[in-house]
Amino acid sequence: GAPVKADISKLEPGQRMVVEWRGRPVWILDRSAEMIQRTEELGGDRLADPDSSEPQQPDYVQGPLRSIRPEIGVFIGICTHLGCSPLFKPEPNAEGVGVDDWPGGFFCPCHGSRFDLAGRVFRNVPAPLNLEVPPYHFESDAVIVVG
Ligand code: FES
Repeated sequence: GAPVKADISKLEPGQRMVVEWRGRPVWILDRSAEMIQRTEELGGDRLADPDSSEPQQPDYVQGPLRSIRPEIGVFIGICTHLGCSPLFKPEPNAEGVGVDDWPGGFFCPCHGSRFDLAGRVFRNVPAPLNLEVPPYHFESDAVIVVG
């Protein structure tokens, strides 16, 4: 499949946009300073796949934010359990996510898997691995090329 360009110039902190690449949804998330702080502070004891053990992941998935730029997260929007599309639940303590101390992220409605704002999977959910990060680069400050 051909690479896909995404213009992120209109994306505001806290917002997410979706583009399609190779028939799959790619989420581009603009994390606010507060969201970055929340993600970096999340305890590793809550994560099932802290080292992003999925094979063939780009080098830049290392580190808590799993991204090239700290504010911009890019993820394949498909649950690593059985392929449902998780819901964007960025606010702490959001309703309907099945835990009282929800730190913000993505919630899969199919079987209750939870991911943080870096696509890292929480412990004790069916999904075994973090959300996949596709290959991407910045063509300019405002344009991301996925693929
Ligand atoms: Fe997401 Fe099963 S497909 S939890």
